[in-house]
Amino acid sequence: MAGKKIAAPKGVSEYFPPRSAAFEFVRDCLINPAKNAGYQLIELPVFEDTELFTRGVGESTDVVSKEMYTFLDRGDRSITLRPEGTAGVMRAVIEHGLDRGQLPAKLWYSGQFFRAERPQAGRYRQFYQVGIEAIGLDDAAIDAEVIAIADAGFKAIGLTQYRLDITSLGDAQSRAAHRVDLLNFIAKMNLDEATSARAAINPLRLFDDKRPEISKAMEDAPLLMNYLSESSRQHFEQVKKYLDVLGISYVLNPRMVRGLDYYTGTTFEFVHELLGAQSGIGGGGRYDGLMAELGGQALSGIGFGLGVDRALLAAQAEGVISQESFVSDLFIIPLGERAKEKALQIASALRAGGKIVEISFGDRALKGSMKGADKSGARYVVVLGDSEITSGTVEVKEMKTGATSSVKIDSLISAL
Ligand code: HAM
Repeated sequence: MAGKKIAAPKGVSEYFPPRSAAFEFVRDCLINPAKNAGYQLIELPVFEDTELFTRGVGESTDVVSKEMYTFLDRGDRSITLRPEGTAGVMRAVIEHGLDRGQLPAKLWYSGQFFRAERPQAGRYRQFYQVGIEAIGLDDAAIDAEVIAIADAGFKAIGLTQYRLDITSLGDAQSRAAHRVDLLNFIAKMNLDEATSARAAINPLRLFDDKRPEISKAMEDAPLLMNYLSESSRQHFEQVKKYLDVLGISYVLNPRMVRGLDYYTGTTFEFVHELLGAQSGIGGGGRYDGLMAELGGQALSGIGFGLGVDRALLAAQAEGVISQESFVSDLFIIPLGERAKEKALQIASALRAGGKIVEISFGDRALKGSMKGADKSGARYVVVLGDSEITSGTVEVKEMKTGATSSVKIDSLISAL
């Protein structure tokens, strides 16, 4: 009896051929600038002790209050699928003493993250991020460098239609001064209980509230940018100066609120123009209190998370990735047993030289194999029979134009 089909869980992003090649390309474009800047890989579990996120990310956030995949494991421990990467990295840095060596500790990661959001285009319950974290350095130059690394990733994909929003959330002193005035302002608003409770934990959340009556009321709210302490203001001025030096343009957005509570100082978001509601392709900032909050020493940190799924959607919207960049260089069609053996040898030599080579196996008729070559999208095709093996020469056919040329088997690699 045939079994019932099983579908993927709702709202997950999946990548399979042919689109998976573009996904891989985008992810690698986002990773490489971090590697080039000396960041090193950190691989962490996708599940952690729930408390890491309630304490690290913050209870006023949607991420913690509504979107976590939390369950009891078989030992009745509360486990949560990671909704973001920073808290886990800090946990590992503290646990394994990565902060005891040379500072800053510079780490990159890439993988799946989980948020039980309402699925829509560009918003998934399992999605992919590439992220970096630099721990233990206050220098404003690293803020600009972190932003530049993200920007370089988007540029490597070929994206142009995005902007960078930046602001500063200041230090504890700045936020304390602002908080007094903001809470006074909010007290005059007529808020429901749940919203008041959120505002009591983190009043900045209200800047992010999408309900029209609240965003209207918040138009006149005092802005943290106007409460920056002298040292926070100077730090932010320097970040902007270094961004100018790097030629990275930005928009000051003093109303920007990130979705996680650990941010301090410089914060930023990359927003793509063609993506509609889910336009944030990446974001990050400083989190100078997080490490101490999680039981480590009081070290500062800064990093970002870039949305690989959204960067891919952006690349498709801009039409900057051509599927052609991911196809094989050569498709070999062997005719007969001797040719199959020779094809295996030729393919392994070419592959060792970095070429992408496929062989048509299965002793199919030439016509069927040619169809296979066509479907594969390979750039060139070669038919290998006894006469080619004897003469040591093959006819290399360019699939797109149909043009052929005779090439010595031994010099195929240079010919390709
Ligand atoms: P985040 O802004 O929450 O930051 O997420 C970073 C990026 O992940 C977003 O800009 C977006 O592109 C992507 N993203 C988030 N949620 C979804 C979703 N449901 N579906 C698809 N893509 C999504 C963080 O996660 C911080 N940990 C970043 C960071 C690192 N800050 C400092 N260090």
